[in-house]
Amino acid sequence: MKILILGKGYIANRCKEVWGEEAIMPGAKIYSKEDMLKLLDEYQPDVVFNAAGVTGKPNVDWCEDHPVETLEGNVLMPIAAALACQERGIYLLHLGSGCIFYGDSPHPDKKWRENDFGNPSATYSRAKWAADLALSLLPNVGIARIRMPIDYIRGERNLIDKLAKYPKIIDVENSVTVVEDMIYVTHQLLEKKAEGIFHVTNPGTLRHKETMDLYKELVDQSHTNEWISEDDLVNLGLATKKRSNNFLHSENLEKIGIHMRDVHEAIRDTMEKYAKELKTMNKE
Ligand SMILES: NC(=O)c1ccc[n+]([C@@H]2O[C@H](COP(=O)([O-])OP(=O)(O)OC[C@H]3O[C@@H](n4cnc5c(N)ncnc54)[C@H](OP(=O)(O)O)[C@@H]3O)[C@@H](O)[C@H]2O)c1
Repeated sequence: MKILILGKGYIANRCKEVWGEEAIMPGAKIYSKEDMLKLLDEYQPDVVFNAAGVTGKPNVDWCEDHPVETLEGNVLMPIAAALACQERGIYLLHLGSGCIFYGDSPHPDKKWRENDFGNPSATYSRAKWAADLALSLLPNVGIARIRMPIDYIRGERNLIDKLAKYPKIIDVENSVTVVEDMIYVTHQLLEKKAEGIFHVTNPGTLRHKETMDLYKELVDQSHTNEWISEDDLVNLGLATKKRSNNFLHSENLEKIGIHMRDVHEAIRDTMEKYAKELKTMNKE
């Protein structure tokens, strides 16, 4: 399978590292269907993985003041890519985000289903939801929604690194995505050319406190931080907008025979590998 990866950021690079020669990551910017057709004709991929998007620097708060760039990267670009893929009959897997859901779902178990309607408020989340609405109309397209990536490799988008550097943290509970598992799942979705929406989150939910307890146990016993409320996060000026916190239900992966590890098993394994990587880095 020849995979064309769009984007050359955090997730794109993590996938390319694992998929190796099977994947091409030209890193070209796409602003129109014509740009995308050129790429498809040049590389002739079997499938396309859209890991491009505007995620904001240093974080998604940036999108609040940059709605045009946010729409260009997260709505216009995926639609242009999807239309070109339709024209050439090529399967597209688009990376969506679970942050299109805010709070509890209307279901008794409070978890959001893949086909539930989003209720986003932040600019970034609204743009991601707009792309999901559009792309989910098309055949030969899959949408893989991820949340709060947790990785054993250090990086500014890795939830472990984010939490470890914050002196003040809110103790919220969420569905999260272990990146190692996501790389395997997205590869399977590409192989199966799976259509529809998939919540690529590990079963179960995780509190930030559990992550930091594991960090203290396995990485740095001297680590400390203060726990604050969700309202304090905005009141203290640590974020412009409240973050989306939610539980995602993942039904569609199981239906096509793709399984993910329970989040508690996955986070312990990831934190052990993270500690090992850190030790190796410190020795070098
Ligand atoms: N990381 C997360 O926490 C998270 C969570 C949920 C969903 N996602 C989604 O996963 C995807 C990848 O996220 P990431 O964390 O890897 O982001 P990232 O590190 O910011 O990478 C995004 C990449 O997309 C590229 N890009 C932006 N506009 C483009 C365009 N018009 N054409 C082609 N490439 C373009 C960027 O290029 P430049 O750097 O040159 O601008 C960058 O290489 C995004 O769609 C994001 O919404 C991420």
